[in-house]
Amino acid sequence: MGRYEELYRRSLEDPAGFWAEAAEQISWTKKWDRVLDDSNPPFYRWFVGGELNTCYNAVDRHVEAGRGDQVAIIYDSPVTDQIQKITYRELQDRVARFAGVLRGLGVEKGDTVIIYMPMVPQAAVAMLACARLGAIHSVVFGGFAPNELALRIDDAKPKVIVSASCGIEVTRVIEYKPMLDKAIELAQHKPDKCVILARPQAKAELTPGRDHDWDELMAQAEPAECVPVAATDPLYILYTSGTTGMPKGIVRDNGGHAVALRWSMEYIYDTKPGEVYWAASDVGWVVGHSYIVYGPLFTGCTTILYEGKPVGTPDPGAFWRVISQHGVKVLFTAPTAFRAIKKEDPNGEYFKKYDLSNFKYLFLAGERLDPDTYHWASDLLQRPVIDHWWQTETGWPIAANCAGIELMPIKPGSPTKAVPGYDVQIVDDSGKELGPNQEGIVVVKLPLPPGTLPTLWQNDERFRQSYTDPFPGYYFTGDGGYKDEEGYLYIMGRVDDVINVAGHRLSTGAMEEVIATHPAVAECAVIGVADNLKGQVPVGFVVLKAGAEVDPNQLKADLVQMIRQQIGPIACYKETMIVKRLPKTRSGKILRGTMRKIADGEKYRVPSTIDDPAILGEIEEALKTVGYAK
Ligand code: COA
Ligand code: AMP
Repeated sequence: MGRYEELYRRSLEDPAGFWAEAAEQISWTKKWDRVLDDSNPPFYRWFVGGELNTCYNAVDRHVEAGRGDQVAIIYDSPVTDQIQKITYRELQDRVARFAGVLRGLGVEKGDTVIIYMPMVPQAAVAMLACARLGAIHSVVFGGFAPNELALRIDDAKPKVIVSASCGIEVTRVIEYKPMLDKAIELAQHKPDKCVILARPQAKAELTPGRDHDWDELMAQAEPAECVPVAATDPLYILYTSGTTGMPKGIVRDNGGHAVALRWSMEYIYDTKPGEVYWAASDVGWVVGHSYIVYGPLFTGCTTILYEGKPVGTPDPGAFWRVISQHGVKVLFTAPTAFRAIKKEDPNGEYFKKYDLSNFKYLFLAGERLDPDTYHWASDLLQRPVIDHWWQTETGWPIAANCAGIELMPIKPGSPTKAVPGYDVQIVDDSGKELGPNQEGIVVVKLPLPPGTLPTLWQNDERFRQSYTDPFPGYYFTGDGGYKDEEGYLYIMGRVDDVINVAGHRLSTGAMEEVIATHPAVAECAVIGVADNLKGQVPVGFVVLKAGAEVDPNQLKADLVQMIRQQIGPIACYKETMIVKRLPKTRSGKILRGTMRKIADGEKYRVPSTIDDPAILGEIEEALKTVGYAK
């Protein structure tokens, strides 16, 4: 039996023993009473009775162990032309003082804090400062519009919001403060205080009494100590797109999270303390939480916080420059970033300019890694290119080629096999387990391993409905796929209304809710269609109200603006088709899956339940006029 096989089997046969051993890598202020509490399914709790502090494990512990002078964070920002190196000792000082700032503003253990920031080190400092106090952070990605931020404010009810005057998108300055003000205006819940980081590129108007300047507060702050919390207490809430306009508040606990991420750094990413690890993502996404901030810092690594893009900042050699300059061993990003580099530098001319001798692995996730991109990256890099599959919900990979255990042969198109701790199965609509090479719905047998979502923020009912009611005894991933005869998993795409645009998870349902508010629109459907660069992009179909007099081009432009303003520019909503009718089943359900297949030029079956098959031909014709359905 190979090492992977042995560990995988142990993790399923003796999960308590397996994870108790992994938990030895974490510092606990009180040891747990029980590794796994399975007394209240489908709600499982890990390390019950244990106490720890996440910030202590990410920062202070390393200073005490002699890593104080090692660089913890390299802030590399081509958009502002600066590189800053922050040692573990400096990070400890900044985090302790910012925790003191938050405490001074009334934040205590169990309170919530929203962080709406660009990719600056202060974003990580704010997250760790919350963890230090036992407060719960909720980071909101900067590309979301005020309306989306307002939804999160109303759900998380933060005492304090931490933000900045602006973000920088290549050369454009995006002012955050007006968006924050607008969101607070829209929200029912009002935070007591806001802390605003003033960046030189934009000045923020502070609201007297409510808003405070980051630097001013830091200058007077008293450092705060690490507050022990229960392993099962929430560390953060991260909102992610579901099938409706209301995002899901994924909860992460403290204990299981620390154990799982520390384990994953070594066993999945083959990364040891002291090494340089880079997740080229954003702190607003789960990849940023787990692998820019917590995973590398729990492990005593140097992590890179990169404020730039794969191309255009300044050229498609940006990633190679960072890897070479900082001695990166592992790069983790989304396939779309590689498609962007490939488009601008197909022959890898920029790649050849740099010394990449420390670079060992490329890990890709966030969307399906298409075999073309895999081959291009693998031929260019001459290093393992590892596809791995996970979700905001799990917080760390469900399937991967675990480089720290043993590198298995790579099959392009597959993220390899289930990671230890995850019993991944394929089922049909009735929940029957399917055999090799039979495509179905991907589920994971409960309990999920540590670090995965224990529930949704203050919404156990939605947790059940979304994840455990569909297939009792299993966690429903929302993805479709199959396993081959060797157990390699193939993830083929979502079976619900979630799409992935440039590695960003979005809800077509949320876009439909926005479009439906246009006065000329009777009904609409949004689907995700295949895109060469971004993996998928949304396309809208609208049926006009009878008698509606509207200029089609104006309507299309209005809808683009509405989506940008209410969801955000990252939705990349550009294409609308005005159609006479939408294809539906006889019971009135819109056939989005069939429309998507038509758009992508895939074979499709005319559903037996369809109301009027002729509509499919009309949809196909409409799609052809804009270059789809080929
Ligand atoms: N704040 C404000 N606006 C943002 C933003 C942020 N943090 N991030 C993106 N946007 C805006 C962009 O400026 C763009 O606006 P525009 O329509 O006015 O031009 C829009 O949102 C779409 O952004 P994006 O999807 O990033 O497209 P792009 O054309 O700017 O860049 C890629 C394309 C492929 C280079 C880019 O998507 C990329 O680097 N992807 C990697 C994705 C990733 O890291 N995913 C995380 C999961 S691992
Ligand atoms: P997110 O929660 O934003 O990380 O998005 C999770 C979703 O992205 C998954 O449910 C999948 O649909 C998709 N995804 C992530 N990684 C992969 C992968 N390696 N292969 C295929 N799909 C992926």
